Amino acid sequence: MQIRNEEKSRAAVMAVASGKGGVGKTNISLNLAICLAEAGQRIVLIDADLGLGNLDVMMNLSSRYNLSHVIDGRKTLDQITHIGPAGIEVICGGSGLDNIANLTPFQHHRLISQFNRLQDRADMIVIDTGAGIGQNVIGFCLAADHTLVVTTPEPTAITDAYAVIKVLTAQKYAGRISLLVNMASSIEEGKKICRQIANVAARFLGTAIYEAGILCRDEWLQTAVCMQKPVVQAFPKSPFSRGIRTLSHRLTNTIPMQIESEGFFRKVVNWFF
Ligand SMILES: Nc1ncnc2c1ncn2[C@@H]1O[C@H](COP(=O)(O)OP(=O)(O)O)[C@@H](O)[C@H]1O
Ligand SMILES: [Mg+2]
Repeated sequence: MQIRNEEKSRAAVMAVASGKGGVGKTNISLNLAICLAEAGQRIVLIDADLGLGNLDVMMNLSSRYNLSHVIDGRKTLDQITHIGPAGIEVICGGSGLDNIANLTPFQHHRLISQFNRLQDRADMIVIDTGAGIGQNVIGFCLAADHTLVVTTPEPTAITDAYAVIKVLTAQKYAGRISLLVNMASSIEEGKKICRQIANVAARFLGTAIYEAGILCRDEWLQTAVCMQKPVVQAFPKSPFSRGIRTLSHRLTNTIPMQIESEGFFRKVVNWFF
């Protein structure tokens, strides 16, 4: 189906991906979204971990409805949007995206126009993706302007992060890819891993990888997770919170917020359609 191509100024979209689960994507997405919002940006955070989404648990927010209810037409996007910490708008994914393939052209159009309105009113959309390199993850990254790949120093996490970079390159991803090393034991260790991955990607894939930053292992984060509070609010002076704040400043200084775009969700939906 042909949908009118409307290039206009809309929120830039950043997907957070990793390949391997448990590396810190959800905590990074949530706390980064809060810092960006505290700096005055209008932020939408989408839990696109369609199988095991847990953003709601991390914020102690009960979400009965999710994207699957919007896709099947029972709810509107506004009805499932929660206002989270620092005023971020939070949308929980659910596992309904597979149903997109069964939508009628009218439902398809209605879905995309709701998403476009969302993208029009925000400055930045942060997408917390799931583990793996399946289409549920890669589809979101390919449609995003920027993909933040998260790894830890573990060899398995590094291999999986590289796999994400490789798949995006193979799919001719036009956006920017940056790398964040989480749970490092020191900044030096993190920087070394970042350089190694960037070198291998440049040499074997011809892909430029930007260094987003290093976050060290920090027990305050685990305490905050148990309290179901975002660490940047529960423990703003903890090393993880400081690191996220630095990342937020760096992002606001290096990547544009609102950009000319044909619409992220049109690309996502067409990918699944
Ligand atoms: N920098 C860190 N220091 C200590 N623990 C961390 C750090 N980052 C993540 N964790 C731990 O890893 C767990 C999984 O993080 P999460 O954000 O859910 O990962 P993902 O979304 O990639 O699966 C967190 O609950 C937390 O206990
Ligand atoms: Mg997660």
